Amino acid sequence: MPTFLMSKPTYFALTEPINPWMGLRGGLNLDLAHQQWTHAKEQLEQAGATILEISPGKNLQDMTFCADSGVVFENTFLRATYKFPARTPEQALFEQWLGEKGYCVVSAPQFFEGGDVVRTGNTIVCGYGHRTNLAGVSALRKTFPELRLIGPLKLINPWFYHLDTCFAMPQEDTAVYYPAAFAPEAQAIIQESFARVIEVNQQNALNFALNMVIVGKKIFLTNCTPAFTERMHSLGFTVVLLHLTEFMKSGGSIKCLTLRLKD
Ligand code: ARG
Repeated sequence: MPTFLMSKPTYFALTEPINPWMGLRGGLNLDLAHQQWTHAKEQLEQAGATILEISPGKNLQDMTFCADSGVVFENTFLRATYKFPARTPEQALFEQWLGEKGYCVVSAPQFFEGGDVVRTGNTIVCGYGHRTNLAGVSALRKTFPELRLIGPLKLINPWFYHLDTCFAMPQEDTAVYYPAAFAPEAQAIIQESFARVIEVNQQNALNFALNMVIVGKKIFLTNCTPAFTERMHSLGFTVVLLHLTEFMKSGGSIKCLTLRLKD
């Protein structure tokens, strides 16, 4: 059962908008955000996951989105180098936390964010174009030569600025994705690289259906259509819905809130 790192939304805010979601009208309800975060954490734990916590850094609006801090595989942590200065101070905090736990920390060059990576087993898929660039992708390739890297996949829609907003891999041979978020050549790579390819519609994509966390045979996500639930069911998974409306206002959902430390 997996272990995830999470961080309470103590300083969660939309102060400095760095993606289109954050510029939409409507403020945050921070109390509700705390309730939603706590409930999501408990749900993952009840499914069998272990959750560790990193203390929120003062006034870091986006630190609760731990997935972006980098990529962990076995004993190595490839640490993000953020595109936007609003998130840069998070780097040192994650580096320290994982360093103290004994991980070998590698700093990525400009730019690399963990949200552009989706991994299942020994297959890792990488997106680029908004937050990660090709230098970041080559650092990923170099740091984890033992993994099969698919991509890099070019992202072209600013609403889907991280790979994990428009792509999921519930099994190593199965890609689930929203085509309109990808350049044509990236769509071709996805089609060629997986035995099973499931395309989702805009409604699922905008509801963050692809921003999923899998624990055993359960898929956690915020919202999806009945047809999507059915499709996941046919792969052997049960879909569990989480209320994360406050985090969606910032352009994130459950995958973004969790950094996977162990499978
Ligand atoms: N507001 C955050 C940002 O723009 C949201 C991050 C969501 N993370 C993700 N992996 N999609 O950086």
